[in-house]
This record gives sequence, structure tokens and C-alpha cells, in this order.
Amino acid sequence: MKILNRWIFTCCLMMSSTLWAQVKVDIQTDKPSVKIDKDIYGHFAEHLGRCIYGGFYVGEDSEIPNTAGVRNDVVKALKDLKIPNLRWPGGCFADTYHWKDGIGPKKDRPTIVNKWWGGVTEDNSFGTHDFLNMCELLEAEPYLSANVGSGTVQEVADWAQYVTHDGQSPMSEYRIENGRKEPWDVKFWGIGNEAWGCGGNMTPEYYSNIYRKYVTFMPGGLYRIASGASSDDYNWTEVLMKNIPNHMIEGMALHHYSVIDWGNKGPAATFSEEQYFKIMKQALRMEELIEKHSAIMDKYDPEKKIALVVDEWGGWYDVEEGTNPGFLYQQNTMRDAMIAGATLNIFNNHAERVRMANLAQAINVLQAVILTDKEKMILTPTYWVMKMYSVHQDAQLLPLKVDEKFYSFGDDKLPAISASASKDSNGKIHISVVNIDAKKANDITFSLGNVDLKNAKAEILTSAQLQDHNTFEQPDKIKLAEFKKFKAKKGELTLTVPPFSVVVFEVN
Ligand code: AHR
Repeated sequence: MKILNRWIFTCCLMMSSTLWAQVKVDIQTDKPSVKIDKDIYGHFAEHLGRCIYGGFYVGEDSEIPNTAGVRNDVVKALKDLKIPNLRWPGGCFADTYHWKDGIGPKKDRPTIVNKWWGGVTEDNSFGTHDFLNMCELLEAEPYLSANVGSGTVQEVADWAQYVTHDGQSPMSEYRIENGRKEPWDVKFWGIGNEAWGCGGNMTPEYYSNIYRKYVTFMPGGLYRIASGASSDDYNWTEVLMKNIPNHMIEGMALHHYSVIDWGNKGPAATFSEEQYFKIMKQALRMEELIEKHSAIMDKYDPEKKIALVVDEWGGWYDVEEGTNPGFLYQQNTMRDAMIAGATLNIFNNHAERVRMANLAQAINVLQAVILTDKEKMILTPTYWVMKMYSVHQDAQLLPLKVDEKFYSFGDDKLPAISASASKDSNGKIHISVVNIDAKKANDITFSLGNVDLKNAKAEILTSAQLQDHNTFEQPDKIKLAEFKKFKAKKGELTLTVPPFSVVVFEVN
């Protein structure tokens, strides 16, 4: 009997240590490493569905308050988010876009058919001036995606000259004629998009030659980003890195979407736990993708001069019922907050190579930070995560190590806890932590060496159900709240992170 009791006691002890064990996170506060480039927190605006039209732009004659046609509520929300850069005009749309269609008097601009996104008529009323002036309003750097698939070398060279040339030239005179004397400051240029697919179905060998030709005729001093691989197409990165000389490229793109199955993506808001688990598995793959693409880049660029630019990422689900399938409009729930929090932790922790990224997409498309319905606007759970994490922008990464702790579903398991930490120019330390477990809270202890924690404070994004989201009727169901349930003593912070929640600490 005694032996049986001891056996039961030992089993209980073992079970409780797996269920309730503290997850230890050691943060090397005395070893600030590389800068977390603010451009990791970039966004993406394509001529797709209601991202531009109705999302960013409503036209000057709209009753919705606007500045030169751009919604004032959207400008305020994105400035509050400190968006560092905005990619435009696509995406797949970019390789059908002829920039000269979108300048000059709006009434004279030709229309085109938006081949990739619903076959709708694009009237070109939002063009280069509209976009670049909007970036000035947003205080965000523009990232222009040039048409390589159906355009010409001359067209891209002209666009770059039109936008950036300071002196006298055919294109700068054209710009001045169209009302803009000073050039805009446009550093980031994407040379085509998804050249392996909608951008022209090219091979990596063919695209690398095309890339070299395009950049040869562009002005100097630009930050040129090559159209990169889809998820785990490592051969694409290998061939481009081998064939493009290092002095001709500043960024290598990578696209990775969290999707269950392209033929059966599942609903955005009424998903099951199984669907949640599968999406998180795809989202967490980002770590492996970054490590493997970086290892290839290291062979050709050991000094890490070329950035890995994840210029499309996010969750992709079925469109909302009754909406145009070509418009990619989806709701945004706590699941998306988990994708955002975990992915941004991965980017932060790989800041040495990942120096730019763009969430797809900013408004009304895929994993949006903003949804609009005519004059109404709501902020999504993803918006709140981006807001919480904005404290990491341009701060020094603090290396950390997270103990293993798993979120299990069926026979499979994923790391439940992810974290990243940084020290900003004022000496403040920020720690972001995510618990993706759908059911279990997790106890965490952060060790911060000798740091004084008496002024530590925190915010949390959490909700009762994973499927919870904001709606136009209930816009504030999910919002940030102060988080006080932690203990701070002798360089240690201890807390319990509720299931599917994000917490960000600030330590002075
Ligand atoms: O973001 C939607 C689309 O996804 C983009 O246009 C394209 O680049 C990608 O396939």
C-alpha cells in the first residue's frame, strides 16, 4: 500500500511539473546586440478589393473626412501605429501596373481591368502622386513595387527618374507639370513581385538576368529588393544569390502566408481548434524559413549586407460570406493576434538578417490592421499587437532563451511560448511574450540580471474566446488593457500568461 501511495505521489508530482512548470526566459540585458530595424513593422497596400478604394482612399468629394481623398481616420490610426513603410501598388497587381496611367488629371486617366483581383475596372484615380503624398501624411517611407512582368526596363527607369530626380530631366519636368516640384524621397524599390508566379512565371535563372538588366538602368543610391522565394523554395534564393552580384542588390524578398490548404482555407472567424493549431503551425514555420534562407544568403553574403525582406506575411482564410472572392476580405480574430505576436518575435530575434517586412495587407484585405465599412472604421486584434510591439522599432535586440513548453493538439505539438526583448535609446527595456496555447495559461519567469524592476509595467491583449473579434457594432470588444498580475523582485518578473494572449512589459 505504501509503495502504491508513493507511486501515485510521484506520478502526481511529475504531472504537475509538466502542467504547471514555470517557463524560464533568460534575457541578456547586459548584451544588447543588433538593431531591430523599424522597417520590420512595415505594411502593404495593393490595388486589391477595398484596400485602396474605400480603405485608404475615398476621393476628395467624399463625405468621409479626408485629406486629398485619403481618409483622416485611417491616417491617424496608422500614424499611431508608427508605420515605418508602406508597399504599393502590389502584389500581383504591380506587374500589371503602368505608372503613367495614374498621373495627370484624373478625368483623363485610362482604365484597366484588374486581372488578378476580381476583374474589376481600375480607374487609376489613385496613382503615384496620391500614394507618395499619402506616405508623407503617414510619415511612412514608400516602397514601390515596379512592373517587371508586363512592363519595360524604360518604364521602370522613367518611374524612378520621375519620382526621385532633383535636377532637370524629361521625367522631372513631367512631374513638375503634374504639380510636384520637389522630388519625393523613395528609397525602397521592389524589382517585380512573385516573379515565379503572377509576376511572370519565370525560372530563377531567367529572373536573375532580368533583375540585373532592370537595376542597371535605375538611378544609383536606391535600395533594390529582388522578388524572392515562396516559403520553402530554397533553390530560388540560392540561384538569385549566386547570379546577382552583391553590389546590385540590397534586399532579398520572401513571401510566406499562414494557410491550411490553398484549396480549403477554412473560415476566418468561426474556425475550430484544429484549424487554429494548423494555422499556428504554418505561422511558426517562419522561424525555420528564415534560418534556412539566411543560411543560403550567408554563403554568398557572410557580412549580412543584404537584408532578408519578408514583404508578404500573414494569415489567409476563406473570404467572408457574401463578399467578392477576388477581394480577399476576411475578419481578424485573436488567432490573428497570435500569428502577429509570434511572427514579430521571430523577426525581432532574427534582426541581424531580417531588416524589413510587410504584413499583408493594411486595410480590408487578408490579415488587415484596419477594416472599414463606408464611414466606419475598426481596429483589429492584429492592429493592437502591432501597436504593442512598436516599442521595439529601432531598439537594440536583447538576446534571450525561452525554456521549452508545448501546446499539444492530437498527436502534434508546438512551442507554446515565444518572446523577444529590446532596449531603446532611452534605456527602457521592452519584453513581448505570447502564449499561443488555446486552453492553458502558462507561468513564466523572466530573469533580467541586475535590472531594477520597481517601475515595471505591462499591457495585455486577451479575450474570452479565440474566435473573438471586433465588429462595426462592437468595435472595442478587443483592446489593450493594463496588466498588473505580475510580481517583480531581484531581477525577476513572474507572471501567468492566459491562453492565447500577448503581454508586453516596459522596464525603466
Ligand atoms: O497579398 C495578396 C497576394 O498574395 C499578392 O498580390 C501576391 O503577391 C501574393 O500571392
